[in-house]
Order: sequence, then C-alpha cells, then structure tokens
Amino acid sequence: MMSNKPLVVVTRKLPDVIETRMMELFNVRLNLDDHPMTQAEMIEAVKAADILVPTVTDHIDAAVLSQAGPQLRLIASFGTGVDHIDLATARQRGITVTNTPGVLTEDTADMTMALILAVSRRVSEGERLIRSGKWQGWGPMSMLGHRIYGKRLGIIGMGRIGQAVARRARGFGLSVHYHNRRRVAPAVEQALEATYWESLDQMLARMDIISVNCPHTPATYHLLSARRLKLLQKHVYLVNTARGEVVDENALTRMLDKKEIAGAGLDVFEHEPALNPKLLRLDNVVLLPHMGSATIEGRVDMGEKVIINIKTFVDGHKPPDRVLEALL
Ligand code: 8YV
Repeated sequence: MMSNKPLVVVTRKLPDVIETRMMELFNVRLNLDDHPMTQAEMIEAVKAADILVPTVTDHIDAAVLSQAGPQLRLIASFGTGVDHIDLATARQRGITVTNTPGVLTEDTADMTMALILAVSRRVSEGERLIRSGKWQGWGPMSMLGHRIYGKRLGIIGMGRIGQAVARRARGFGLSVHYHNRRRVAPAVEQALEATYWESLDQMLARMDIISVNCPHTPATYHLLSARRLKLLQKHVYLVNTARGEVVDENALTRMLDKKEIAGAGLDVFEHEPALNPKLLRLDNVVLLPHMGSATIEGRVDMGEKVIINIKTFVDGHKPPDRVLEALL
C-alpha cells in the first residue's frame, strides 16, 4: 500500500471534473496549459511522480523509464492504446501499467462509420466545393460516390471496437468479414453474422471496404505492408481509426496517388502529428486529427477509469485495467 496521498503527475489537461476529483483524492501536479511535454520534462516527471498519468502523445520509452525514481509504481495511462509505453521495461522495473478500455469503444466505432461514409460519399470533397464558392448547382452526374449498402467490409482486429463497428455496419447493409489472431466466440460471430478469415491476405483480396481496428503492437507494425496493400482491389476504401503504424503510410499514399485503391479515411498517422505531405494533395482521402474517441463524455469516462485504477492501486488492490503484455 502507498502513502495516502501519492504524487500523481498528469501530463496533459484533462476535463475539469476529472482534475478536481483527482485534487480531492491525491497530491496532483496538473498541466494546465496543456503543452505536450518534452522528453526532458517527462524525465523530470518520472523522477518525482509516484504515479504518472500519460496520454498517447507521451513517449514513455526505456530512456525515460531508466530515469524514473524508485517511487514510480504506476503508470495509469489516459487512453486504450499502450504503444507509447515500453511495457517490457516497465515490467522489469516493477511498474504497473493500466489503460482505459471499453469507454471509447462506441465513439471510435462511430468515427469509423463516419469515415467509411465520408470517403465513399465524398463528404469532405463536397464541403470543399461549397466552401470554394465554385458550386454551380445540382447535376445528375456531379459528385457521384459509391453505395456502401450491400458491400463487403473486412475488419482487421475484432476486439471491442471491431465488434462495435460490425454492429453498426450491419445496420448499413454491409456484410461483415474479419481477421483476428483468434477467432471470436461462435455466439459473437453468429450475432454479427460475421465471416472469419484466418488468412488476412485472402480477406484483403476480396473486400470492398477495409477497416483497421487492431492495436499497434510489434506484431501489427506495418501489418498492411506494401505487399499486402497490393492485394486490395482497385475500388477499395480503407479506413484507419486505430494506429497509423499498422499501415505503411508511404505505400498507401503512393497507391492512392496512382488510384490503385479508390480512397482512404484516416484518423491516425504513422508519425503524428506529421503526415505524408502528399496525402494533403489527394482528393480521395478524408483526413482527421486523431479524434476517434474525442467526445466530452468519452474523455470524462476515461478520466473516471484512470481515477479508479489509481484509487484501487493506492488502496492496495489490483487495479481493474492492468495491461498484461501477454494479452496484447
Ligand atoms: C485517445 C486513442 O484519445 O485511446 C486510444 O488508444 O488512440 C485515443 O483515442 C488517446 O489515446 C488518449 O491518450
């Protein structure tokens, strides 16, 4: 059990209600101006903190962790993905890591559908046309996109978010296919009327729309490599609301440029906030600034989960959302 009021260092500005509750419970160091921390600031933070609350923009790598003081016992990350934390080094140093799964599932699945529709129905292009002042009025052959009803959607990663995308997709008349390391339970598969593909290559070659919903781990880095992207049919739309690193962004950009696939909806990028500048010049892509889970409700729920993880840990219990490398 830790001292009653551990020093909790929060790396970014969180909703007021979360920060206020944290102030009541813990000895908290907030980042009120919300600047992303430099590596030097991060090292200062881990030297002092008993508990660190980082986000996706903080790189908690071995270099940072090697500077951590022995009092750092918990990294209670604000977010579901944990690819910004060197889990093996944390484990070696006896630091527990938690995340916030479950509470951003529905929001991220909504954004996945938004991108599928936006890219296939040219929503951003249409808005750009209006804003340019060049719209000449309705025309029977203007701004034609493609129908999604009746098409095949291939979901890569059938975890919580993948399943939530599948539920929505059925409502839009898409047939659901998926690839996952493990086949999901028969009851889930039946409820979603989902078709399992053990071979990702086989699935990629047969789909109309692809949605990336798996975490970024060493095993999924560039899962959609240049070779695999070549397997896609020419009319495919690819949507990524997971992590940019899962897709070879340069290879994807080249294919979009050459119209070797029809379009992409991207909420995440390999080197955020940087992105391949060529993407900005393409009309067949919809680009969003990593906002899949960006709802007020979601952020408050994520903060609540962080508080519960810290509180249970401080009280000497196993926090509910411990991240176990073996399960990733
Ligand atoms: C979060 C995300 O906003 O939870 C995740 O994995 O990618 C985002 O939706 C971010 O991680 C907050 O740290």
